[in-house]
Amino acid sequence: MSAPLHVIILAAGQGSRMKSKRPKVLHCLAGRPLLHHVIEAAEGLSPAGIHVVIGHGADEVRAATPNQGIQWVMQNEQLGTGHAVDQALPGIPDQARVLVLYGDVPLTSISTLARLVEVVDDNTMALLTVDMQDPSGYGRILRGDSGEVHAIVEEKDASDTQKAIREVNTGLLAATGGRLKDWLPTLSSDNAQGEYYLTDIIALAANSGLRVDVAQPRDPEEVQGVNNRLQLAALERWYQRAQVEQLMLGGVTMPDPSRVDVRGKVQAGQDVFLDINVVLEGEVTLADDVVIGPNVILRDCALGSGTVVEANSVIDGARIAEHARIGPFARLRPGTVLAEGAKVGNFVETKKASLGPGSKVNHLSYVGDATLEGQVNIGAGTITCNYDGVNKHHTRIGAGAFVGSNTSLVAPVTLGTESTVGAGSTITRDVSDGELAVARGKQRNISGWRRPSRDSEPTG
Ligand code: UD1
Ligand code: CA
Repeated sequence: MSAPLHVIILAAGQGSRMKSKRPKVLHCLAGRPLLHHVIEAAEGLSPAGIHVVIGHGADEVRAATPNQGIQWVMQNEQLGTGHAVDQALPGIPDQARVLVLYGDVPLTSISTLARLVEVVDDNTMALLTVDMQDPSGYGRILRGDSGEVHAIVEEKDASDTQKAIREVNTGLLAATGGRLKDWLPTLSSDNAQGEYYLTDIIALAANSGLRVDVAQPRDPEEVQGVNNRLQLAALERWYQRAQVEQLMLGGVTMPDPSRVDVRGKVQAGQDVFLDINVVLEGEVTLADDVVIGPNVILRDCALGSGTVVEANSVIDGARIAEHARIGPFARLRPGTVLAEGAKVGNFVETKKASLGPGSKVNHLSYVGDATLEGQVNIGAGTITCNYDGVNKHHTRIGAGAFVGSNTSLVAPVTLGTESTVGAGSTITRDVSDGELAVARGKQRNISGWRRPSRDSEPTG
């Protein structure tokens, strides 16, 4: 059996190059903090422990991160990456394999990480390097005559010859707990930044005869660090490209994949169509033949096959069956459930509302805390008055009911099966099956009435 795996994630730095009040690791990529991406990758290795080193904005970072299974380690002063790793070591057994990740390197694949940890033992450490077109800002890998790695030099400490080296340190490495405990206390801060560099352990390992096993990731973007907002945006685009490519290869059509953004997990069937400026957030499931028009936001929702969402709609926390029609300009809020063939049209807002098969709310309505059975027709401008200022109340509408335009349904209230409500009514009492309810001022027509006229021409 191999030694237990512990992951240390460094997240204590301020990230001054972000020019931000927020700690760097809380800046978002694809809608989630950088740190959460790193934690998810670590979890993919099923380690015995995940130790996150925090310092700058520690409370904020902790509060923003789900805590299950994470051991928080305080680094009160940010004295460098070597010092940061050292803070976590007391909680880690000597025989453990330790993988060090950086909170600002968010997109490393699990297979790349697994490759690093599998070679580690007391005589071998693993280092992830990458060749970069533009290596500026990164530590450079120094190799000896026979190609073996013998040190890393940070950009700020590098000579011009060293700066020309394109192979750089990703920051990700692995060694045993015992080795790290030997090396880290011996680091010196005698360098350009006055910091304890984790990277100096490579020279220590090489000098004590350990093998430094070097791996490279499949894509250089996997190990790109985020130091400023330009790098954050570049990485976001790379990530988005990978997401939409997967969707397209799975059978989704997009006229412009660069204008579809995935900020969560999307499952899509075949022949789904996503028009431009579609944003998918949280968990989104789209069955076969779903059509999404331009400028639509879909958040935490499931759409049945053949459902069409027209332009400028926002769907959040809704379950929608097959062949429903939504929008343009509809807003479906959490708790909305549409049965097969239901329709929600323009300028309609729904919340905790369930529409039965074939029911329609086509124009300018608010339907909240309501249950509509099948084949209900709600006229334009109808409002469920669900809130009395203190409590929310429910509206029930039976199958085949017809509600005339501009009606207020004052909840709690029930409209029976096949009941009808005259336009402009304010309904405060239940309506029985098949009844017609009309609740509005009677129309009076006054003949011979004259419009007022001005008394005289204004003077002065
Ligand atoms: C580091 C590496 C460099 C590598 C690059 C890859 C060192 C000395 N240099 O440089 O070789 O090419 O990453 O992205 O390791 N942190 C702490 N405590 C500290 C200092 C940093 O937790 O005292 C954390 C930061 O929050 C960050 C990570 O460590 O998440 C890396 O620190 P950063 O200052 O960004 O290092 P780089 O200069 O990018
Ligand atoms: Ca960095």
